[in-house]
Amino acid sequence: MAHITASVYTSHVPAIGATIDMDKTAEPYWQPLFKGYEFSKQWMKDNQPDVIFLVYNDHATAFSLDMIPTFAIGTAAQYAPADEGWGPRPVPVVQGHPALAAHIAQSVIQQDFDLTIVNHMDVDHGLTVPLSLMCGQPQAWPCPVIPFAVNVVQYPVPSGQRCFNLGQAIAKAVSSYDEDLKIQIWGTGGMSHQLQGPRAGLINKAFDNAFLDKLIADPQAAAAMPHIDYVREAGSEGIELVMWLIARGAMSDVNEGKAAPTVAHRFYHVPASNTAVGHLILENT
Ligand code: DHB
Ligand code: FE
Repeated sequence: MAHITASVYTSHVPAIGATIDMDKTAEPYWQPLFKGYEFSKQWMKDNQPDVIFLVYNDHATAFSLDMIPTFAIGTAAQYAPADEGWGPRPVPVVQGHPALAAHIAQSVIQQDFDLTIVNHMDVDHGLTVPLSLMCGQPQAWPCPVIPFAVNVVQYPVPSGQRCFNLGQAIAKAVSSYDEDLKIQIWGTGGMSHQLQGPRAGLINKAFDNAFLDKLIADPQAAAAMPHIDYVREAGSEGIELVMWLIARGAMSDVNEGKAAPTVAHRFYHVPASNTAVGHLILENT
């Protein structure tokens, strides 16, 4: 059977992608940030999954205000890097896993989550920046990726609790797939940041670190936080953090009564662009 081996959490700041693409990672401003991902790139090589289930948000790139799916699962064979206004990032095309994605869609929809099925879409920095941070600059990404897009751009957005429960449904779906696949689930976006309005530039280190603590040790409590608290404490775009709860809800301590996950890596850095960057790797025991 397929099983989830680990979860990865990381911010997806677009300037990080531009810095990698323009070969500026050694610049003094960026060097401390990329140092925090050196462990992660080696860890990826040492813990190669068969498939990455990548929870992210589209930033009005593939979707727009014309149509706003709350949860959308990619069932395509391929996803091209999107042109977000300055040309597509020079990164590999993302290979999908249509069979596993279709199975997860079937199982999760039957568990009463209404997913939008996406057979064609381009993927923006929300998906490609986490891949770059974790995998570097390979000719091809190391494995197929199932994109799972969450609406955190246009209110109303899903609650942290619903995201956590959805993670549990995804874990159940994975465990009923009849092929011995190692799956990683990634929750991306965050941490505290606000890109517009009078509070633009907001960073809340105390909130971010408390969120990381809670996500690791008491994910049910993290899931119970109402969405308004994210906005107040972490800024209007800090709401992206609810996506981390999907990944956390899929871990084996939550679903199989196993021991708490091992913290393989934890990193926090300010600033990157106008954003606080947070990163965790949790391994199932
Ligand atoms: C920025 C954009 C994002 O989508 C994000 O999550 C963080 C920062 C930015 O434009 O700087
Ligand atoms: Fe974002």
